[in-house]
Amino acid sequence: MNRAIRSYVLRQGRTTPAQTRALEALLPKYGLAFSEKKIEKALVFGREAPLVLEIGSGMGETTARIAAEHPEADFIAVEVHGPGVGSLLNRIEKDKLSNLRVVRHDAVAVLRLMIADGSLAAVHLFFPDPWPKKRHHKRRLVQPSFVSLAKDKLAARGIVHLATDWPDYAEQMDLAFSNEPLFQRAEKGFVERPETKFETRGRRLGNPIRDLYFRRR
Ligand SMILES: C[S@@+](CC[C@H](N)C(=O)[O-])C[C@H]1O[C@@H](n2cnc3c(N)ncnc32)[C@H](O)[C@@H]1O
Repeated sequence: MNRAIRSYVLRQGRTTPAQTRALEALLPKYGLAFSEKKIEKALVFGREAPLVLEIGSGMGETTARIAAEHPEADFIAVEVHGPGVGSLLNRIEKDKLSNLRVVRHDAVAVLRLMIADGSLAAVHLFFPDPWPKKRHHKRRLVQPSFVSLAKDKLAARGIVHLATDWPDYAEQMDLAFSNEPLFQRAEKGFVERPETKFETRGRRLGNPIRDLYFRRR
């Protein structure tokens, strides 16, 4: 993907006092600073465990719930939206989650630069911004360059779990991953996905929800 074209627009939005406090006090504790050096996961989490990277964790409810339900794995959530990062930090603190860390940065750069090749057990991409207008499709995260990046970063048998409520984006995801011979369709994800905030919104609008799973050979 041409990185001059971003998959997000940073809207200021409202940051609550609790989110602001979290960004100041908890980001140093539970955040990982963006860096061009690879993360040493054993140093970050203090153990060797399967590592899952989530792209666009939004407000983080689902992310925190998955981490709480899967203490056997470690999770890195990547999100650019400040209020969402603040909310997730507060959940990590409240729920005492030792297996979840957050990076506030563009996930494509994080994947490329901070994640070692062959090191991920799964990549989660739940309800990425759909960019419905045709002239904006180039901003969609899932494109051949993303498939190639996911292929490099996943371990053998690692899973990509995608979900969307936009039928034409689901088709685009399906096509992009099916075209890569190193991925094969799978029946389920690394975890069972709880309903996310954007999913609830999509359901309310009557949109069809689709999950897609691909396993790296
Ligand atoms: C439609 S929301 C979905 C949030 C959440 N996954 C859910 O289902 O409720 C998409 C999120 O992805 C984030 N995002 C988009 N592109 C991103 C990128 N390149 N790196 C990190 N976050 C990104 C946006 O800021 C937004 O919070």
